[in-house]
Amino acid sequence: MLSTRVSTRFASKVLSKSLSQIATGGLATRGTTCVLLHQNSRAFMTSSRPFFNVSPPKTIAEQEVKNLKEFKQRSWPHPVYSETEMKGIAIAHREAKDWSDWVALTAVRFFRWSFDFATGYKHDKQIAMGNKDAHGPDAFHMTPEKWLARFIFLESIAGVPGMVAGMIRHLHSIRRLQRDHAWIETLLEEAYNERLHLLTFLHFRQPGWFMRMMILAGQGVFFNTFFFAYLISPRTCHRFVGYIEEEAVITYTRAIADLENGMIPEWTNLKAPEIAIHYFDLKPGADMRDILMVIRADEAKHREVNHTLANLQQEDPNPYALTYGNDSPHPTKGHEYPKPLGWERTEIAVKAAV
Ligand SMILES: [Fe+2]
Ligand SMILES: [Fe+2]
Repeated sequence: MLSTRVSTRFASKVLSKSLSQIATGGLATRGTTCVLLHQNSRAFMTSSRPFFNVSPPKTIAEQEVKNLKEFKQRSWPHPVYSETEMKGIAIAHREAKDWSDWVALTAVRFFRWSFDFATGYKHDKQIAMGNKDAHGPDAFHMTPEKWLARFIFLESIAGVPGMVAGMIRHLHSIRRLQRDHAWIETLLEEAYNERLHLLTFLHFRQPGWFMRMMILAGQGVFFNTFFFAYLISPRTCHRFVGYIEEEAVITYTRAIADLENGMIPEWTNLKAPEIAIHYFDLKPGADMRDILMVIRADEAKHREVNHTLANLQQEDPNPYALTYGNDSPHPTKGHEYPKPLGWERTEIAVKAAV
């Protein structure tokens, strides 16, 4: 009882002192206290009688518009894909050729099985191909909610490898006082691109606490595992990401097939959010199919880039950062020269100047 009274009196004294200092402007002179003031004001806003006259919280839509106005110039503008290029994206698989590839492929198969289990993923190929009635007694097809849960979890994990690999190469470069040969930018750009995929899908579904816990746990395990694995064998890690992206292309191809075959009527005229229209440079009135098409093309690019990086040596220049003097096929950020299994080292002028 005594301790409660003392602490209450003490708290009340501290509060009244703080309020008087705020009133006289004493606390508002330092940046750190400004933050405290702001946090306190938000906390007080939750009561029925706010202590400070602050503007009401903005809605997500208002914040989104504000952010878009603030960030017109993006560091990594999205590459432009033609309709023909996006329609031409195909499922592909690179055969494992050595022990490193087998380690990567086995790890992907394990993750794929775990991921399917975690997200309740099943897919009847015959329904996706339009050969079977989706509403028959034995039919199973993914609902929009299940698709979005899968996309959100997948994209939250997909944003990790590029950032980890870029970070490790960055630290490697500044620690050893050596050039990086332009890999870092491509790796960070991939992570950025995956995060924008995630933000796009979050417009359509906000995960509940269970999904958030899954994402939290998934990131904790995957980040650390990938970090140590990249220190040991960057080549195996890039092959692993190449195989993961093969799976991502399969997932989005099946979702597009479901949509085009009328299996997901809820998405037929579902408009793309502003963030996607701006980032992917979609036409006004773009819908869910446009989003899935461009994201599948992105995943196909990641597939090619990571299989290519796995084919190179760590000191080779990044072929996606090189300039090429002729029109013969060469690595690009777009899909002008499709190469789903990656470019072999012998196909690239690795000795060209960056
Ligand atoms: Fe993605
Ligand atoms: Fe990807």
